[in-house]
Amino acid sequence: MKKNTPPVKPVGFGIIGAGMIAELHAKSLQALDNTELVGFYDANPAAAKARAKQFHCKAYDDFEELLADSAIEAVTIATPSGLHASVAIPAAKAGKHILCEKPLEVTLEKVDKIIAACDENHVLLSPVFQSRFSKPVQLVREAMLGGRFGRMVLASAQMRWYRDTAYYTRSNWRGTWKMDGGGALMNQAIHMIDLLLYINGAPAEVSAIAGTLTHSIEVEDNLCATVRWRNGSFGTIEVSTSCAPGFPRRIEFSGSAGSVSFEEDSMIRWEFLDHQPIDDEIRAAITGAGDACGGRAPMNINEFGHRAQLADLANAIRLGTPLRLDGREGRRAVELITGIYHSMRTGKPYRFE
Ligand SMILES: NC(=O)c1ccc[n+]([C@@H]2O[C@H](COP(=O)([O-])OP(=O)(O)OC[C@H]3O[C@@H](n4cnc5c(N)ncnc54)[C@H](O)[C@@H]3O)[C@@H](O)[C@H]2O)c1
Repeated sequence: MKKNTPPVKPVGFGIIGAGMIAELHAKSLQALDNTELVGFYDANPAAAKARAKQFHCKAYDDFEELLADSAIEAVTIATPSGLHASVAIPAAKAGKHILCEKPLEVTLEKVDKIIAACDENHVLLSPVFQSRFSKPVQLVREAMLGGRFGRMVLASAQMRWYRDTAYYTRSNWRGTWKMDGGGALMNQAIHMIDLLLYINGAPAEVSAIAGTLTHSIEVEDNLCATVRWRNGSFGTIEVSTSCAPGFPRRIEFSGSAGSVSFEEDSMIRWEFLDHQPIDDEIRAAITGAGDACGGRAPMNINEFGHRAQLADLANAIRLGTPLRLDGREGRRAVELITGIYHSMRTGKPYRFE
């Protein structure tokens, strides 16, 4: 239930694709004061009806009907990744603002078509990277912008996760190049890739090896890459969905004047040579990552990030505030990931322009 009387009319949202992550979108939309969930569309009408019943809203039988509904000002896209452009472009042409699940699309060409459609039709595009909205991530970003790390030397990510056979076999799109766009890197580790880019900046060159070690899927379930970042630092990206029983993911940033370390979305180390009063507060707030981690179950995702990102989009629509991340920001992770896949295929380093 809404907590307060909203100061402005809530933004009406439709959800396209009524599968697993759509449930989180719906819960977030119903929890916020500035959004309203109007209804669902799914290529499988039974899925839309089931979610509509669960959330007491409409089910649309066809996509055009949802796009024609003036109560819907914005949509969230929760279809398989390789179908994002096919629904985002008509939604943009219908004048709907868009929150699109990660990755924006599975190729840069399709990402660019979504961005162009949103620009041409003057609608906002918010690509989901919910981890960016966490307090620890913001603190590290501020420390980086404030120069507290000194000279950056290492920015690395490690994801030793586990997905069982059923995770891939019960889905007709996960684990395929066409619809998932890749494996452990594109589907699961993309959030870490986004954080590396957000905090440490652009990559200059990558080299990668990868393989499919424990699942019967087309795409990689294990990958290791080395990165030379444009700011002169180095990094490793090590990702897997084969590591039973699954550990929390880690992201670490180290510079000549300080280092931090995350487990999942929690900060576990915060250490700088130039001690400042705020450091004591931050370190006192570090509690460790706990047991809940995406390493063991796909839906171990808390609602906080999606809720914050949907509120950001609704504020941008109603109040004209700038989006905290837009389509061009969402493109960067797909650019780095497809560069890593290029190196994996050719066996040669891939240099970014
Ligand atoms: N942000 C996160 O942490 C997070 C977590 C999980 C999934 N995701 C992303 O969300 C997206 C969906 O993942 P999921 O796990 O919910 O998948 P899912 O398979 O559970 O659900 C996808 C739904 O889309 C429907 N669909 C297929 N084609 C459609 C079309 N053309 N139009 C409308 N509906 C269509 C399917 O019938 C299905 O109900 C993916 O892009 C995935 O990468 C993001």
